[in-house]
Amino acid sequence: MAFVSAPYAWRCVQPVAVRFLGCPSPALALADRVDELTAQRADATVAQAAEIRRIERDLHDGAQARLVSLGLSLATAEKLMETDAVKARALMRDARAVAAASLTELRDLVRGINPPVLNDRGLVDAVSALALDSPLEAVVSADLRLRLDPPIESALYFGIAELLTNAVKHAHATRARISIAQDDTTIVVDVEDDGRGGAGDRPDGGLAGLRRRLAVFDGTLEITSPAGGPTSVRMMVPCESL
Ligand SMILES: Nc1ncnc2c1ncn2[C@@H]1O[C@H](COP(=O)(O)OP(=O)(O)OP(=O)(O)O)[C@@H](O)[C@H]1O
Ligand SMILES: [Mg+2]
Repeated sequence: MAFVSAPYAWRCVQPVAVRFLGCPSPALALADRVDELTAQRADATVAQAAEIRRIERDLHDGAQARLVSLGLSLATAEKLMETDAVKARALMRDARAVAAASLTELRDLVRGINPPVLNDRGLVDAVSALALDSPLEAVVSADLRLRLDPPIESALYFGIAELLTNAVKHAHATRARISIAQDDTTIVVDVEDDGRGGAGDRPDGGLAGLRRRLAVFDGTLEITSPAGGPTSVRMMVPCESL
């Protein structure tokens, strides 16, 4: 723990004072907060770098590769135009199909970065669309008066998407309930499934990633998932950061 600005004597006395008085001094609380924020910033930087690598990889393996092959097909078609018009036309037809596939792939990639419905209509509508797409019978209830900051909307949206995916992948659930509520201090999102339980963080898993993503906004993730189920996950983000 770093006590950058506290005088040396106070640094020595402070832990004892805390033990006897039972509450941390403002300086100690501040130092703790600096440590916490430093760790959160490091996590956010790592998560952001990983996300950029994913997008690079998707572009490289997908649209970029298709566009290279499109260029080659068009070059060959151009050469064949005079000598073998039928073959040239077939190549151009293929090229058109490849262009359409690249477009779809790029659209999907952009949607993965931020779905248009989230940008245009906000969290509740975007989550309702997610629920409709889910193979589970998913019900959404929401009481959210304002649009949230885009990074928070995005974190909660992808959080709910991850929890629904988990419910399908791991829980053998048939139903899910999503509730989004807001009071004066906090946004609270609950996602429950009627599956078999047993959810918990594992290193590099989606839940751990979600916890890190929420921590950037001082948010938290609470998992209640006894063996046999049901599973209930609560995401909370303080409104002060909105
Ligand atoms: N709703 C759930 N019901 C039952 N078990 C769950 C549920 N959600 C998660 N789990 C369990 O918790 C583990 C951790 O979930 P987490 O989302 O972190 O990782 P993952 O889903 O296995 O991988 P990833 O999210 O990277 O695709 C899962 O492997 C699964 O065993
Ligand atoms: Mg997961």
